[in-house]
Amino acid sequence: MTTDVVIVGAGGMGREMYGVIRLLNDLAADGPRWRVLGFVDDYPGGSTVELVHRLGVPFLGPTRWLADQPATTRVALGVGQPDLRRETAGTIARYGLPAATVVHPAAEIGPDCVVQEGLFAAGGARVTTNVVIGRHVHLNQNCTVGHDAVLGDFVSVNPLAAVSGYCRLADGVMVGAGAVVLPTLTVGRAATVGAGACVTKDVPAGVVVTGVPARPHRTGSAPRPVASDRGSSAGPGRAR
Ligand SMILES: CC(C)(COP(=O)(O)OP(=O)(O)OC[C@H]1O[C@@H](n2cnc3c(N)ncnc32)[C@H](O)[C@@H]1OP(=O)(O)O)[C@@H](O)C(=O)NCCC(=O)NCCS
Repeated sequence: MTTDVVIVGAGGMGREMYGVIRLLNDLAADGPRWRVLGFVDDYPGGSTVELVHRLGVPFLGPTRWLADQPATTRVALGVGQPDLRRETAGTIARYGLPAATVVHPAAEIGPDCVVQEGLFAAGGARVTTNVVIGRHVHLNQNCTVGHDAVLGDFVSVNPLAAVSGYCRLADGVMVGAGAVVLPTLTVGRAATVGAGACVTKDVPAGVVVTGVPARPHRTGSAPRPVASDRGSSAGPGRAR
């Protein structure tokens, strides 16, 4: 069965998601799994629209385009930053469209894991056993999530990061590229683990940690947004 999907956020993450959806379609033996209607984005940056058109996919306009969609159309949240992804989910909630779950064929999600709606797992992402994954979690290329871990809503685990067994990542946590979170540790709500860090102690909510061993970097600050990853959530006057 083919399901209509709209990718929300035309930046880098949205376009990466499109690549996985296209691959899933190419590999499906019984016809395409998804029909990509196009991308929506309230504040597309610089060359974003051109990059979407280069993929041969329509840019449909702002997120209010979703208002006329039937309840069967799914949305794939292609916004990389956890806080912006949450904000975008709030913006489009009024349209009541279900979220797409997009798992690359070379990603592994253990059979006894619990996965909520909106998971995006890129190629090489590996989730082992008895892991609980919240809503709209992004697992990027070649990251690992060990046994019995719990990931809250809107968590991002970036490429090559390793989240160990029994870890707990609260809602909105970002684990940066190549970082390690040692077993049983808790990373608090909306905290950020910097790229390459090794977390050896629990991280309080909202704190940014970096280094080996990880230490507070800049309390309460969020990572600087990447313009192409703002997706649909950047309002006028906000940093891009
Ligand atoms: C830790 C992080 C959140 C800090 O962001 P920031 O506050 O905007 O940091 P800045 O770029 O302004 O750098 C501030 C200082 O911290 C240092 N720094 C930045 N990131 C660092 C990291 N991961 N580890 C160690 N030091 C880091 C910078 O070198 C700079 O040092 P300086 O003042 O001596 O020059 C961010 O750099 C990071 O690591 N994000 C992860 C992003 C990621 O995984 N991206 C992959 C996407 S696929």
